[in-house]
Amino acid sequence: MASEAAIRRQGEVYVGGMAGERPLVPVDARRLEEAARRKMSPEAYAYVAGGAGSESTVRANREAFERRRIVPRMLRDVSEREIGIELFGRALPAPLLVAPIGVLELAHPDADLAVARAAAEAGVPMIFSSQASVSMEECARAMGEAPRWFQLYWSKNDALVESFVHRAETSGCEAIVVTLDTTLLGWRARDLDLGYLPFLRGKGIAQYVSDPVFMASLNDPAPSAAAQKRRVNLHTLRAFAELTRAHPGGFLKNLRSGVPLAAVQRFIATYSRPSLTWDDLPFLRERTKLPVLLKGILHPDDARRALDHGVDGIVVSNHGGRQVDGAIAALDALPSVVDAVAGRVPVLMDSGIRGGADVFKALALGARAVCVGRPYVYALALHGRAGVLELLRNLVADFELTMGLAGCRTVAEIGPECLGTDG
Ligand code: GLV
Repeated sequence: MASEAAIRRQGEVYVGGMAGERPLVPVDARRLEEAARRKMSPEAYAYVAGGAGSESTVRANREAFERRRIVPRMLRDVSEREIGIELFGRALPAPLLVAPIGVLELAHPDADLAVARAAAEAGVPMIFSSQASVSMEECARAMGEAPRWFQLYWSKNDALVESFVHRAETSGCEAIVVTLDTTLLGWRARDLDLGYLPFLRGKGIAQYVSDPVFMASLNDPAPSAAAQKRRVNLHTLRAFAELTRAHPGGFLKNLRSGVPLAAVQRFIATYSRPSLTWDDLPFLRERTKLPVLLKGILHPDDARRALDHGVDGIVVSNHGGRQVDGAIAALDALPSVVDAVAGRVPVLMDSGIRGGADVFKALALGARAVCVGRPYVYALALHGRAGVLELLRNLVADFELTMGLAGCRTVAEIGPECLGTDG
């Protein structure tokens, strides 16, 4: 069925404009970010917008898209356009997924739930984050049959890894995406300058505090606290109240039990496993029948190794520039990974997607689909579910028009020949 999304979306906006209406969220990516920055707290904006170190990787991601240019072809009858794809047996309306992003409560109180509803309405798969603000079960309930995946941070606790995977399966997730690039938290200058890490305040740990294995682990001997002792002052009291309030259940009960602080300490001690190696992958492979994708692959040798381990897909990503300052742009890494994979499994990409042309360029370089990240958080900050839905619709419409105007009728027609050679 040919897509009319772009014409419909343009029509809505321009006809609405005749009645004095304006789009709910800015269409232009820079204005969107700027509007969200004004609305968000400095800490929330810093956490979302920030990257590692000097943020050169964040810039490189954008520059890699800017450097590549589309060479539109003419007179090809693009009256019928089809932007749908198939991924792991599922027909999707566009080559687009919602990237896993943690701590969405920093942007909006409805957090993941608002994104889940918007993604479901748009038919765009949402990849639930391990660091979500709302449990995967709650999000899944809001999504009906709409597609969702689960992003896994491989914790130090094998039983917890197993529990997350099991919960993802029972929540109807259709794939597991293992993020490999965050076994340690990157050096984030903006967050460091504000002395702000949301997890310490009990935010972004909903998957953990809703997990029976994690909660049972609170009875284990307390993890050796890396945190230094601090004098109690007004700030520490306020932070303590914040983390107590963030925990499910009543404030007073939480205050008396001490569970919220214990949960934060346990989380910090266990959420990631820097010792992870290729030898750990069979553990996961043996515990799920779902497709397993590895996210964070940037080198063709790692892609080959992933294939040797029987993975079902690869996500080329540098975590939106949040982990390694000075890392290769994800788009620059994409062609060599695509070459190494040679069509054996789908290659997805994220890091720097801001508009339809970016989706087109990533597909031209061999990505099967892309994940959008920060822009939907900004839309969430501005208008909750409706903002995210509009953002997704805009992105899909923009892509469809770019594809048609470049002279392609389907995503299968998008290839390296659609780009100029001087990139
Ligand atoms: C965690 O995934 C982060 O990027 O902050």
